[in-house]
This record gives sequence, structure tokens and C-alpha cells, in this order.
Amino acid sequence: MTRPLVVAVDGPAGAGKSAVSRRVAEALGVPFVDSGMFYRAVAWLALEEGVASDDVERLVELVPRLRVEAERVFSQDRDLTADIHRPEINDNLSAISQVAAVRDAINQRQRRLADQGVVMAGRDIGTVVFPETPNKFFLTASLGERVRRRLAQKLRRGEQADAGEMEREIAGRDVADSTRLVAPLRPAPDAVLIDTDGVDVDQVVRRILEQVKR
Ligand code: DC
Repeated sequence: MTRPLVVAVDGPAGAGKSAVSRRVAEALGVPFVDSGMFYRAVAWLALEEGVASDDVERLVELVPRLRVEAERVFSQDRDLTADIHRPEINDNLSAISQVAAVRDAINQRQRRLADQGVVMAGRDIGTVVFPETPNKFFLTASLGERVRRRLAQKLRRGEQADAGEMEREIAGRDVADSTRLVAPLRPAPDAVLIDTDGVDVDQVVRRILEQVKR
């Protein structure tokens, strides 16, 4: 039996992972999964249900309720996709992303999504979730460029956004994601690094497709 095709795309917020991964997945005929949806959904449910970010047992219990499908996330049958981008989850999100038991539970769910092949975007996909795949990419871009992209994204969704606030949020998450002890944001030793500053989505997609080993 041939092994399913797994492509890992990691990098900081705003590096272009979703836009690129969605297109790579389409081209390869496999689903695209944004792994951050799991962390965001746990953070949102914890906030909604008053679960403290150090109540490991109750946090872990939230994970089996989640279902991620076609770029949407559900808790049982409730669609949480719009809620998980609300700014009020930010503090919770960084705290919960550091809890090893929550990460383990999420990793198991993510591995099961790869049965039919997958392009998965995140922070630790090449280092922790699928370290065995030969297809690992790490996207970077300057803070200024990443802030501009996120602002444009918000405006397209019809949401308000403040550049200064956005810069503080992204810079804060960069520090939290790369300095945490469990599964910090960093390229796998064998990842292909791609700087996306001033490079359009098409070019990045082409670069990845050229490298993918089936
Ligand atoms: O990709 P995103 O910005 O939606 O991710 C939100 C947060 O979730 C991110 O700041 C840290 C956490 N996360 C993680 O720890 N590991 C992943 N693979 C994906 C996201």
C-alpha cells in the first residue's frame, strides 16, 4: 500500500500558510487542514464554558467534541468557525497552546485526518505531528508584511482592524509561539524555508509543488 501524501506547512501568523496550503491541496487533490482551528476552538469553548486555562483535565475533554472539515470547525453540530477569530480568545489561545496534554490530544486528531492525504498548516506540523513526511515547508515573512496581510484579510471579511493593535497581537504571538517549551514554532531540520516577502501566492505554490515528493 502506498503511504498517503502528507505536506506540512509551518510558519508564524500571517506568513501566508493558509492561502498557499489551500492552493497546494487543490493541486494535489487532497484536503487542506488549518491546524490552528483546533487550538482556537478549544480556546473559544474554554472561554464560553468558563474552563480555566490551567484546568488540564477539562481542557482535554473539549478536544473529542471537535470536528474540522472543509475549513470549518464544529463542536458537536455547532459551527464555531466565525467565533474562533474573535480577539477575546487571544490570551486564552497562547495559554492553552502551551498545555502538553491538550497538544497531545489535538495531535492525535490531526494524525487521523491524514488517512487520505492532507496539506496541513500550523506551527509544529513538520516537527511534531508528521515528522516522517519528506514534504516539509516553513514559510516566513517580515513582521510588517504579515501585519499588512492580516489587516487586508480582516477588511475583506468586513471587520474593523487597527494596524498598531494588529502588530502588537502578531508580535506577541510570535514570542509566545516560538518561546514556549512544548512544540515551539521552528523549522524542522529538513524543512524547505521559503521567505514570502514580496513573493506572490502563485510563486510560493509553484515552488512547493516542484518539491513535493509523492
Ligand atoms: O494559525 P493560527 O494563527 O490560527 O493559530 C492560532 C494559535 O494556535 C497559534 O498562535 C498557536 C496555536 N497553534 C499551535 O500551537 N500549533 C499549531 N500547529 C497551530 C496553531
